[in-house]
Formats: sequence, C-alpha cells, structure tokens
Amino acid sequence: MRLSRYFLPVLKETPAEAQIVSHRLMLRAGMIKQASAGIYSWLPLGFRVLRNIERIVHEEQQRAGHIPMLMPTLQPADLWRESGRYEAYGEELLRVRDRHDRDMLYGPTNEEMITDIFRSHVSSYKDLPLTLYHIQWKFRDEIRPRFGVMRGREFLMKDGYNFDVSKEAALHAYNRHLVSYLRTYERMGLQAIPMRADGGPIGGDYTHEFLVLAETGESEVFYDAEITDLRFGEREVDYDDVAECQAVLEEFTSRYARTDETHDAALFNQIPEARRRVARGIEVGQIFYFGTKYSDAMGATVQTADGGKVPVHMGSHGIGVSRLMGAIIEASHDDKGIIWPEAVTPFHCGIVNLRQGDAGTDAACAELYTALKAKGLDPLYDDREERAGAKFATMDLIGLPWRITVGPRGLDKGVVELTCRKTGESEEMTAETAVSRVARIYAPHHAHVAHHVEPMAQRSFHTWL
Ligand SMILES: Nc1ncnc2c1ncn2[C@@H]1O[C@H](COP(=O)(O)OP(=O)(O)O)[C@@H](O)[C@H]1O
Ligand SMILES: [Mg+2]
Repeated sequence: MRLSRYFLPVLKETPAEAQIVSHRLMLRAGMIKQASAGIYSWLPLGFRVLRNIERIVHEEQQRAGHIPMLMPTLQPADLWRESGRYEAYGEELLRVRDRHDRDMLYGPTNEEMITDIFRSHVSSYKDLPLTLYHIQWKFRDEIRPRFGVMRGREFLMKDGYNFDVSKEAALHAYNRHLVSYLRTYERMGLQAIPMRADGGPIGGDYTHEFLVLAETGESEVFYDAEITDLRFGEREVDYDDVAECQAVLEEFTSRYARTDETHDAALFNQIPEARRRVARGIEVGQIFYFGTKYSDAMGATVQTADGGKVPVHMGSHGIGVSRLMGAIIEASHDDKGIIWPEAVTPFHCGIVNLRQGDAGTDAACAELYTALKAKGLDPLYDDREERAGAKFATMDLIGLPWRITVGPRGLDKGVVELTCRKTGESEEMTAETAVSRVARIYAPHHAHVAHHVEPMAQRSFHTWL
C-alpha cells in the first residue's frame, strides 16, 4: 500500500475523551472512529489488525478441532424465553421489535441459538464430541461503555460451544479450550493468565477467565508470582489426548490466581509473602463448563450407546477479539506510539522515502516495494511529500515493527537503513539484505498458516483483505 493512496486519518492532537493509552493511540493512529457511545467504525488500519487477530483465533480453534460457522446478530426472543434468559438478562440485552411485532434481540451471546441448532440436527452420541464456534458481533448495552474498544457496547467475540455425551467428555473439551487459548494469546505476544472465575448469570462450576496484566485493567487480580514464569511455547499438543490436555490445565491453573470476584484471602496468604502479587488485569477470554443448563431447558438430548437418552453436556468459551486489540496496545507501546507484535501488525514493514520526487530514491523505493511483495509481505510505503521527521513520527505512531528508510546519501553508498520499532536500533545494509531479513523475521508467522490449517480455510484467510 502507498500511503498517498491510503486512508489513514492520523490525529495531531491527543483526544481529550480517551482515558487510557490504547484508546488514545487507536484514535490518534486513525484506527477507529466512535459512531456512538461504545460503538465504533473500524477504519482501514484498525480493520487490518482486527482481521489479523481474528485469523489467529480461527487458526488456533481449527487446530484444536473446533468447527467454524456463523450465526446471525439478531435473534428471536422466543429462544431466550425457552431458557428463561429473556427476562433474566436485564438491561444489557438490547430488545427490538420487527414490523410484524415480533420480539427480537441483538445477541449478547449465542447459547440458545446454538442449542436450538444442535437439537434440530443431532440426536446420537455417535455425532459427538462436537465443538462449533463463530466470530460475530455482539451487543451488550453496557451502562458505562469506556476505554474505547475495551468495554464497548458492540464488540467482536469468538464464542464456541462444546457438546459432549458426559461431564468427563465435556471437561476434556474445557481443557482443550484452555490449551488453545494459551496458544492463541501467546501467538499475539500476550501473556494471559487463566484465573479462577465466578460463574455469573450464566452459571457454571468450572470457569476460568484469561487476564492480561495491565495497570489500566478493570479487574483486580491476586496471584502467585511464579505463574508469570509459565510459557506455553512451541510445544505441540495432541488435542485428542485427554491426559495431555489435563496436564496443561494443571500446570497453568494449580497456582493461586484469582480475580476480586473469587479471591480468598486465607488461601492467598498461604503463599510465601514474597510471591504474593496484587495487580490489575484485562479479561481477554473466558471458558465455562455449565453442564446441562441449556440442554435441560431446551430439550437438547442425545441417544447413548446403551439406548438411553441424556441431556447433552455443554460449555461455552469466549475470546474478546476486538478487546484484544486494546489489550495488545496496552502491553506494547511507548511514548511515540504503538509497537505491534509481528503476529498482528497491520503491515509487515514501512518504507520511508527521505526525498520524495528524487528519481533515485523513488526508483529504489519502488523496487523495494516490489521485492517485499514478491516475498508475500505487505509493506506500507510512505510516498507523501512530507518532511522526514513527519514520516518517522507517523511510522512510530502506527507502530509497524520494521521500517526501511531510503535516502540519497545511503543510496550513494549502496545501502538502506533497517530500523526496529521496538529497540529503535538501525542498521545499514543493501536493499536486498533488508528484504531477506524482513522475510526471515516473518517466516515463522507465515508457517503457522501453511502447516496447520486446512487448505480450504487457508485460502479464505488469504482472501479476506
Ligand atoms: N463490553 C465488552 N466490550 C469488549 N469486549 C467484551 C465486552 N464484554 C465482554 N467482552 C469480551 O468477550 C469475552 C467473553 O465474554 P463474557 O465472558 O461473556 O463477558 P463478561 O465476562 O464481561 O460477561 C470477555 O472475556 C471479553 O474479553
Ligand atoms: Mg467473562
């Protein structure tokens, strides 16, 4: 993309309404525009990052064997009357009426609808286990939407639902989700700690929230410092292996880690004092096993091997896709702007032409651009007639991890400059070397798609943008 042809409405002033850094930076970098309280348009740069986050979520869900689909945003109220949640959900549920006077609602979550789909089509244990998920816009009429996309009213969520014949099988699905979530967040450059959570209005005995530590987080958290040393890393997990998934759950949840809702001071105080931590965190996901709550209410049963009939055991598992963008920025920025992790960056690298209009630098930039494209990379070429300082400031603000600077003096020596956004370090090298360096940096990220996703899905990931 050439910046002169792009739509990047960068703000010079710091917007007064934004209280936290991620919100300020998203507005300044021209990523979002508020449409009304808690409802945002995703401008091109923000949209690219949103799609990248979604893609990682899709890849990791499919790696775990979960099946993508798409349910509508508007749901008939009758389904929610069956579960009893139409009244119980309260003011956060946006209720609307269509022209035929039918009660509808903008879905805040999809347990009822997925249970209805399940009971219409599945009746035998032979079709289980089954986990279906989608990434769809949700609406919750939050009383105090704030912090930009962190607590919106309209927000993008991945919600997945497992259906299993027994509690044991459903707990394996729970563990599978835990493992896939650990992988998902780590790939985005985040450490999200599973913390014992409260069942809330949805109910449930087994539930963990995933929290990213950040001063601006809305939840108060209490944890054993040892937990922050845990990494999932590059290990391969067999998602069908019950013992292996259970072992990961134990590894990541046996130490004390709770939010204020479930905090138990007596238990916490059993940890050596030096390891006790009280901090704040951003909830980026939650997993639930809630048993037969919806299948009982809505009559979703399956035939068992011995000819009996049992209500299906379910869980639901959410990732805050749009909130993650805020969480990533909270975790990765400096006073100049955003520092995108390579996994989600909107463009792989920036090209800055220090003397736009000069035949030599223009040609070198155009060549660089083509060479990066040929390696499957997406550069953003700042080809505007602007001072170098302004170009650097824009690049730093929008946070591309790598920048290649092309100027007449360097070209005389046969070099360009490769700069790392995170460390600020620059190195001179030939354009050719710069291209292969950047390609090598991104190779592991591209490999994820190449090796782990079915060809069909892989094709669609690439055609999304
Ligand atoms: N108002 C919101 N704005 C943005 N993301 C949200 C919002 N509410 C929930 N999410 C995200 O969706 C995930 C799953 O939702 P859920 O656990 O049902 O939400 P909650 O715990 O707020 O009731 C949450 O972990 C969070 O990351
Ligand atoms: Mg939650």
